[in-house]
Amino acid sequence: MLTDERPLIELATVTDLPLLSESTTAPDPQTVYGAWWARWGPIAPVLIEHGVPAWLVMGYQECCAIMRSEYSFSRDPRNWRWNQENLLPEGAGIRAFSPPEPRAGSYHHDGETRRRLRQALDDAIADLPDAQIKAATRLVCTEAIARFDAPGPVDLIADYATPVSFLATAAMLGIEGDAAMQLMRDSEIIARHQPGGLEARARIGATLMGHVRASRERFGRDLTSSLVRHPNMRSDAEVVDSAAVPLHAASMFLGAWIGRALHLELADAAFRARWSGGRLGLDDALDQVLWRDTPVANSCAPRYAMHDTVLDGNKAVRRGDALVLALSAANHDPAVHSSDPWDEVGNRSHLAWGTGPHTCPAPAQARLVTRTAIDVLLQQVDLTLMVPADQVEWAPTPWVRQPRRLPAEASLPVLHGHQVPILGDNRDTWTTRPAPSSQARPGPAGHPGNLDGTGDQVPWLEDTPPPTPTTPARGSTAPEAETPGVPSWSDLLHRST
Ligand code: HEM
Repeated sequence: MLTDERPLIELATVTDLPLLSESTTAPDPQTVYGAWWARWGPIAPVLIEHGVPAWLVMGYQECCAIMRSEYSFSRDPRNWRWNQENLLPEGAGIRAFSPPEPRAGSYHHDGETRRRLRQALDDAIADLPDAQIKAATRLVCTEAIARFDAPGPVDLIADYATPVSFLATAAMLGIEGDAAMQLMRDSEIIARHQPGGLEARARIGATLMGHVRASRERFGRDLTSSLVRHPNMRSDAEVVDSAAVPLHAASMFLGAWIGRALHLELADAAFRARWSGGRLGLDDALDQVLWRDTPVANSCAPRYAMHDTVLDGNKAVRRGDALVLALSAANHDPAVHSSDPWDEVGNRSHLAWGTGPHTCPAPAQARLVTRTAIDVLLQQVDLTLMVPADQVEWAPTPWVRQPRRLPAEASLPVLHGHQVPILGDNRDTWTTRPAPSSQARPGPAGHPGNLDGTGDQVPWLEDTPPPTPTTPARGSTAPEAETPGVPSWSDLLHRST
């Protein structure tokens, strides 16, 4: 414990703290982190949300040191003083990530229990064939594109990045068809704080438990089937909670990565010139996104101090305080950058995946899903962003950096009269059937065009109306609105359950 000449600062005594979401929603998060750093140094007091203070760790070395010391900085939410002393305000959102009792997966555990559960997760992920991930991702991408109201406006977040990342992750867990769609609808109810949240939670729990039990019988090649067979797993609850992290958190991170990469490709001329001009491969371009605006801006897995200590010379961290890792700020720490940006091409020492015992177990799989999602979209669809680059709004969450919506004009030059894979009536499996073309709004050169007939776009993460497109909307004519066809994501998400 090293102190310096400055007066000690304690969480309990600082007032006028900034909200963490100011960093994720700012046009330039680094300006916000920079102001906090200038005032406090690499570790600053912030509010996770109103009434919930925590230390924000912005320095690269400081983040690494904390993430690698599970005995000093625990992941078990029972060690958080706000849980122990019941200090959380009513309805606090952080409860979802830091409940009073830990969930049964590795995410909320340290030491031996973490090692046992994490080994099972690592083995299950290693056992998943890349070709299977890629094929499943291609299917959900093609499905999402088939539902585009094209030629016309789409929201690349609500209509593509979000469903693709959720359904690709569900497929890794062996969940497809109706069950996957229902999970996606229920997750949306919870994410948007819609009525019926309790019922949605109960349905998700029941679906996951049912899936885990069924996986014992069917010897599939997916994460759940591997987990139920793993000798380290001691109960169905451990498997359910191990599967819930990829389904809820990881799919959100994936959606943010896909969304931000598409945003940069469509909005940032310099980025596009390097990528499309061939100076950056797709993998390098995706790493640029991880360096520049990493999806997990502030890790939603706080650490809890196990003893009183002083960090950065004058931050008096008390036992039970929460520390949030600002991975985005750490990636911009001048200590890890040279003056030549080209030195960084191929450099993957960013903290986008975290580090230490809880580091993301699936960076290769996440990359495969993301690169497939971007590849398929950019190959099959011509896109023009419909909002000025600097007017994109950011999702209002303290954790993830993601455009709130990404309205684009889409046209489909490639899929002339193509047969597109869609969810069949037998929802047990993905099936292929011809896209309905007879009544649907015609698209370019015989493309089936508007497949849902409504043009509705319902954002995933929030509930304000979509922006007015700057080009004529195609979803407005009454006869077409009655056209039967493939339901849109919006219809599927809002269909009564
Ligand atoms: C295939 C998709 C993914 C899967 C299956 C996955 C799975 C997981 C799991 C299970 C954990 C918790 C591990 C533990 O606590 O023991 C985790 C942690 C993490 N994941 Fe992923 N993930 C995926 C995608 C992503 C993406 C796209 C990002 C961001 C680029 C990401 C960033 C992280 C980070 C930063 C952590 C660690 C947080 C911390 O220690 O504070 N993951 N991931």
